[in-house]
Amino acid sequence: MDSRLKLALVGCGGIAQAHWRGIEQIATRVDVTAVVDKNPASAQAMAAQTGAAAFTDIEDALKKGDFDAVDIMLPHDLHEFAALACFDAGKHVLLEKPIAHSLESAERILEAGDRVDTVFMVAEQAQYWTDVIRARELMDAGAIGAVISASGNFYDPVVIDPDAPPPWRYSLAIAGGGLTIDGGAHWIRPLRMMMGEVDAVIGVTGHHVPRMEGESWSRMLMKFASGTVGVLTSQHVMHTAGPIELFRVTGTEGELQITGGRNGQLILFNKQHPRGEVIMNAAEGKINSYGAEIKDFCEVVLDDKTMAATPAFSLGEFRTAQALYRSIESGRWEKVW
Ligand SMILES: NC(=O)c1ccc[n+]([C@@H]2O[C@H](COP(=O)([O-])OP(=O)(O)OC[C@H]3O[C@@H](n4cnc5c(N)ncnc54)[C@H](O)[C@@H]3O)[C@@H](O)[C@H]2O)c1
Repeated sequence: MDSRLKLALVGCGGIAQAHWRGIEQIATRVDVTAVVDKNPASAQAMAAQTGAAAFTDIEDALKKGDFDAVDIMLPHDLHEFAALACFDAGKHVLLEKPIAHSLESAERILEAGDRVDTVFMVAEQAQYWTDVIRARELMDAGAIGAVISASGNFYDPVVIDPDAPPPWRYSLAIAGGGLTIDGGAHWIRPLRMMMGEVDAVIGVTGHHVPRMEGESWSRMLMKFASGTVGVLTSQHVMHTAGPIELFRVTGTEGELQITGGRNGQLILFNKQHPRGEVIMNAAEGKINSYGAEIKDFCEVVLDDKTMAATPAFSLGEFRTAQALYRSIESGRWEKVW
């Protein structure tokens, strides 16, 4: 078994920079040997950064490149084409969330991934947020008593240049949804990690970002299979905003709070800690989470490690957002699964 993994970065845009930093700092058994972007300048820039060979076409890279695994970071409507081409070429596949832009496309990818004997993993860095993992441990240890409810707040700053063409994520046909299906996924996953599977949701959405076809804000009520409830706010903010609480979990005997920003903390409030006990820093684990997910992928490939979250589980964020969208149409609670 090889001790290092040769990886191609497919899509050299915004998130590729976070993945590359994670590889340099944390997933250090990965060698980036190819980079692919249809924009030659982006491919060349990433090649200069990584020392890898540059390609402008995935199929060309699959024919000529020297790599065993791919990290797909493309607009959502291209996930199926890219993932299937890479499965066919016998590559291990790490695919950025959401799995695809539609449920049908996501299911075709999952089915194809089931048929190959290479590794298929969906990249959801929130799975590795150390504050959320610790919060769940404290909940399991009874630190807040019986769990009742949770809330999450996702505020995503957006800068709009009215003269620039709209980004691809503003197109429903390409992205498959608005903010909830996109960045909102990184808040839905921690809520699932802490509260268990989402059973049904109902909510409201709105549009306040010019030219964005999908929702630019949503408020979603969630019923978890455990009988507990949650509420998630996802919102683009086009101005400076006040301090933010990322998550709060309330139990019969206490609360856990995760605050945002560089000085974010996981804080436990209960009888023993009426003024709140700071359990840990909540920012560092988030910054390191891209590296942690790629390290996990690398160890699944090289060491036969069990991955933290299966692709089938990773459909949950997409299905939760889709159920929200259905509830807007029906005005009713909609089942997630
Ligand atoms: N996990 C996270 O925190 C996070 C954050 C942002 C984006 N994402 C996800 O990462 C993926 C990419 O998002 P992004 O923000 O990096 O987008 P982006 O637009 O910044 O980058 C996408 C890149 O893909 C290239 N591209 C487009 N079509 C191509 C093709 N046919 N062949 C090769 N290259 C092509 C573009 O030129 C661009 O450089 C999406 O799935 C998105 O949801 C995840």
